[in-house]
Amino acid sequence: MKHPNPTSADERAKRMLDPGFGKVFTDHMVTIRWSEGQGWHDAQIGPRQPFQIDPAASVLHYAQEIFEGMKAYRSGNAVTLFRPLENSARFARSAERLAMPVLPDDLFIAAVEALVRTDVDWIPEQEGATLYLRPFMFANESFLGVRAATEYMFCVIASPAGAYFKGGAKPVKLWVSDDYTRAAPGGTGAAKCGGNYAASLVAQQQAVAKGCDQVVFLDAAEHRWVEELGGMNMFFVFDDNTLRTPPLGTILPGITRESILTLAAEQGLKVEQAPYDIDSWKADAASGRLKEAFACGTAAVVAAVGEIRWNGGEQLVGGGVEGPVTTALRDELTGIQRGSRDDRHNWRHTIAL
Ligand code: PLP
Ligand code: COI
Repeated sequence: MKHPNPTSADERAKRMLDPGFGKVFTDHMVTIRWSEGQGWHDAQIGPRQPFQIDPAASVLHYAQEIFEGMKAYRSGNAVTLFRPLENSARFARSAERLAMPVLPDDLFIAAVEALVRTDVDWIPEQEGATLYLRPFMFANESFLGVRAATEYMFCVIASPAGAYFKGGAKPVKLWVSDDYTRAAPGGTGAAKCGGNYAASLVAQQQAVAKGCDQVVFLDAAEHRWVEELGGMNMFFVFDDNTLRTPPLGTILPGITRESILTLAAEQGLKVEQAPYDIDSWKADAASGRLKEAFACGTAAVVAAVGEIRWNGGEQLVGGGVEGPVTTALRDELTGIQRGSRDDRHNWRHTIAL
């Protein structure tokens, strides 16, 4: 059902002028329910509106919730998604880890496509801006016993978005947390569940207090190996033309990460998924062996890292400026996403309007 009273074109244009990240929302949302016995049912597209949620809904107590982040791009008359089946597959893996029902790929894709089609006027035109899409699912059975719920709500909302970081393309500063870790072996680090982010917020507050943009989380066992940031994966560029990123396991398997591994190999870099310890990062940044570092993710795209700070020290990375490998990889990735570069891997998914 279309919104009976949608945002006017003037008001929409005003809100989309400088949307920031995650603050402006479109008029519609998709919902699909799941319950034991009935399975997936009651798929709807309708006005974006608050949920009525029982105070005993299990998500409010035990945090059974997962989500995805993806973007819709406008290129000429076409509207595209980037590797949406990868998001669907990861959503399914997150669901399995959180003991939630798996939404079939065709329903996931149809839900996202339907929302983009309905709210197509909300896809920003300006350079660097996109329509950010947030599929998510939560347990909404009213029950306080601790077990997997028997009722769930899947939903997709959309948000016109500009740069994730307030500084735009300025290299970001990272705070190395030695108090907090994000994930442990056997935990939920590889799942995109709300609880991972809840647990990261106190470290993020410390980072902001130290003048930084994001937290670098180290591994839980040794507090030594670089894992990832609160909401992005990490890459390192060395003076011998090597590009290194931490291996999978306790980190989120980023779709941007995987795409960059492919593109970097095509650009002639020696690509490795290998552990990197924080003391080497500090020393290599100081010696110049580490030429560049960057963070990547759907929301942040590719963000150069200009500095790391920790309890008792700080160190510029790459002289504090963005390096050429970071720029080349971002240009290639965003070029493919926006349709100005050859889509050799069939990563673009066109939505029929
Ligand atoms: N790591 C974390 C913790 C994230 O939240 C994200 C963002 O989704 C990523 C990495 C990057 O993943 P992707 O490239 O699939 O957006
Ligand atoms: C994304 O990149 O889509 C995320 O979910 C990460 C978060 C920083 C917004």
